[in-house]
Amino acid sequence: MSLVVRDACVVTVRGGAVARRGEAHGALHVEPHADVLVEGQCIAAVGPGLVAPRGAEEIDARGRVLLPGFVDCHTHACWAGDRLDEWDAKLRGVPYLDLLRAGGGIHATVRAVRAASEEGLASALSARVARMLREGTTTVEVKSGYGLDADSELKMLRAIARVAKEGPGTVVPTALLGHAFEGDHDAWVRGVVDEALPRVSAEWPGLAVDAFCEQGAWSREACVSLFERARGRHPLRVHADQFHALGMVAEAVRLGARSVDHLEASTDADLGALAASPTFGVVLPGTGFHGDGRYARAGALVALGGAVALATNCNPGSSPTSSMPFAIALAVRFCGLTPAQAIVAATHHGALVLGLPDRGRIEPGLRADLALLCHTDPRALAFEVGGNPVEVVVCGGRRLVP
Ligand code: NIG
Repeated sequence: MSLVVRDACVVTVRGGAVARRGEAHGALHVEPHADVLVEGQCIAAVGPGLVAPRGAEEIDARGRVLLPGFVDCHTHACWAGDRLDEWDAKLRGVPYLDLLRAGGGIHATVRAVRAASEEGLASALSARVARMLREGTTTVEVKSGYGLDADSELKMLRAIARVAKEGPGTVVPTALLGHAFEGDHDAWVRGVVDEALPRVSAEWPGLAVDAFCEQGAWSREACVSLFERARGRHPLRVHADQFHALGMVAEAVRLGARSVDHLEASTDADLGALAASPTFGVVLPGTGFHGDGRYARAGALVALGGAVALATNCNPGSSPTSSMPFAIALAVRFCGLTPAQAIVAATHHGALVLGLPDRGRIEPGLRADLALLCHTDPRALAFEVGGNPVEVVVCGGRRLVP
């Protein structure tokens, strides 16, 4: 099956599947009045006046911006229940970590997830992924982490895998084995390392493994013990410096982690170490917006030579948004990224964080995941707040939206 997008303003990173640093972090190639020809699932050609095969579906872009589909590389989009009652407490000023320590927060969602069936989790996730597609997200990472014990974590991963199988968008599961703990911290950690991790490795070889390094969650030593065991068999990712800089960034860099996510409380030394490494910094401005107004200094990380990816952190507690356009608008206002740097972070770099070099750019041979905006200037994507600027979505070569 063929499809052609006519007269688009194609906006994309160009070149190979490597991280863009320094000046290159914001170097977008803009090609006005270009056509994009899609054959099957892939982009076949990009340029003006392309000849399409007879019968090809045509989309007239009328000069509007065509981006690679967004890659949301950090979400907790598989959950049950809600935390709206808890939000009342947050509005009265109760901090996130106090709620967590009192058995709420992540633990409240853990109770709801344990009570839910695999089917129920899958159907709730499927509805969220469908909404993300309408917002231009064609690839989304979804973490477990609300099960905590091995059986419940595996139930979550199976629910996520079910949705991944359904398509049409790409769903990438991550085993967030160290999100919180119950009972004695050290005994809990040993249980995860000795039981849950081997079961995940057996059923999900190569799946990324993640942990939340924070006071009241997993200690740095606990995260390191999990990662030392997982290293070599699983890409490593870590939530670090969300509230406190605990030295996890340096450890993550030493362990060769794929990404360090959050970074709101990172010191200059943390950002410097991250910038000097191949590890991505993933920033999640939805969390600062919904929470306490603290944001990662992504612009500083880029200035130091770091590679930044941007994600929604969609979850029922700290970041109730699934919109990558909104994340871009926030990252430009509060994290110090330029609109172009934010677009690179939300497409090409997100794909690299997930180990998917076949997407995130508009180039022949890559997967045809495309988002056509209502705007003719890419800066308008970051300028406008609160709406959905995505008018047409092509995913794996098929027009899905509208
Ligand atoms: O990345 N910080 C840890 N995990 C999530 C929050 C999940 C939740 O509150 O349910 C985050 O912000």
